[in-house]
Amino acid sequence: MPALENRERRILALLRESGGVALGVQDLLDQTGWTDQAHVVGAAMGLVEKEYASVKEDESRKVRLGSEGIMALQEGLLEKRLMDWLTSVEPEQRTMAALSAAFDKSESGPGVGLLRGLGAVIESGALVFSDQNRAEQEIGRRMEFIQSIADTHLLVTDSNKDIVAHFTNRRDLIEVENSITRSWKASQAGLDLNPENLVQSEQIGELTPDILQGESWRDKEFKPFDIHAPAPIPLGGRPHPLQSLIDRIRAVFLEMGFSEITGNYVQSAGWNMDALFIPQDHPARTMQDTFYLAEPETIEVDEHHLRQWADVHESGGSTTSQGWGGSFDANESKKALLRTHTTVNTVRHIADHPSKPSRVFGVGRVFRQETIDRTHLPEFHQIEGIIHEEKASLPMLITTLRTFYSKMGYSDVRVRPAYFPYTEPSIEVEILWRGKWLELGGAGIFRPEVTQPLGTDWPVCAWGMGLERLAMLILGLEDIRELYQPDLEILSKMPLL
Ligand code: PHE
Repeated sequence: MPALENRERRILALLRESGGVALGVQDLLDQTGWTDQAHVVGAAMGLVEKEYASVKEDESRKVRLGSEGIMALQEGLLEKRLMDWLTSVEPEQRTMAALSAAFDKSESGPGVGLLRGLGAVIESGALVFSDQNRAEQEIGRRMEFIQSIADTHLLVTDSNKDIVAHFTNRRDLIEVENSITRSWKASQAGLDLNPENLVQSEQIGELTPDILQGESWRDKEFKPFDIHAPAPIPLGGRPHPLQSLIDRIRAVFLEMGFSEITGNYVQSAGWNMDALFIPQDHPARTMQDTFYLAEPETIEVDEHHLRQWADVHESGGSTTSQGWGGSFDANESKKALLRTHTTVNTVRHIADHPSKPSRVFGVGRVFRQETIDRTHLPEFHQIEGIIHEEKASLPMLITTLRTFYSKMGYSDVRVRPAYFPYTEPSIEVEILWRGKWLELGGAGIFRPEVTQPLGTDWPVCAWGMGLERLAMLILGLEDIRELYQPDLEILSKMPLL
């Protein structure tokens, strides 16, 4: 049984006592002694919602004088004044010319029209009535109507609807207002309700510290709130949902003890790929996949790094690896490109701080030659991070990612084996969403071929996750493009993060 508020109890009690007669707002105001209509209507509608009452809605139209109507009340309707003039002059003087002289042009034109409507005809330039009595009667009836609504709103009924129709066709004489009159009756469920439920009780409508600190709330009733009741959605300024998500990710990593790093969009192929032991003939390095720049076409890379990457790529350098073989091309390393992943930021961070343990993260934009569709964009963001310290390990990596996703609200995380040229072991991270496992990104422990040239012996836990995939999930989007369309209507309705 839906709980009733005190006001609803009061109204239902009255509806039950009315003996089947529907009660309107005024009846209920009188009987409750309340002064606010909104209270009566709110409670009565609440009862209808809960099916303890039914509502009858009568639409009605009311009329009152318009600005011209008020003038007509004082000076008479135009047809009345014309008729008065006509009867005050001799029949042979009732000419159009005389009429034009006696009345302003703005009145004589429409006036003649009105008289014609009342049966006047023009014969040799003079106005003649076929039945002047009838015309005068009709004018009298119109004047009476105008006087009858002088200071009231008159209900439109069958008996006056013709004259109302007449005046609504004339400018500003009357104004018509549509209104709905409601009345309520108790339903069978309302009549059957045990009277106990109608006893008004003290209800707590708002929890204050005072109430909560005491014990008295234990015996009190709480005012029921319908959290499903329709309410207007307040629209105001808000950050873009993607920005809110980035801010939340930041907050989570900062809370987990990570520091934030950033980097440039423009990088050398050396740092973006060679440093990560991505072979120089890897398909992802071609123009089809990567945006290479024309300006600048190349970027200088430190000789020392170029030599080390060459060593590791050709023969494994001082690691136990055999490298990729072939010959390393330093010119390939110098090619300028738009970073294809934010892993370039983390490797550069290690290169800058090789002997300092670090836990860093960054959320940054990356660029790949992708055909735009429902799940792909050529620009998107990655959530990147590393743990670089002596005891870094795969369990530590997995726990970190689990912790991160559970703080974001996704506690079902699983990892699967994967492959990246720069990590061993490599894993793919998936989260459970609506019964499906969704892949969110890659992770692993950097290979010695990566860490050794960077100047560190410590293991590095590394990950790079998709931001937009996570955003689509959290915001319930089917199409990644919705995130970037400047449609304020759609954006304003996206959930707050
Ligand atoms: N850079 C990889 C990508 O772009 C993700 C990744 C980062 C994988 C770090 C392993 C380690 O998808």
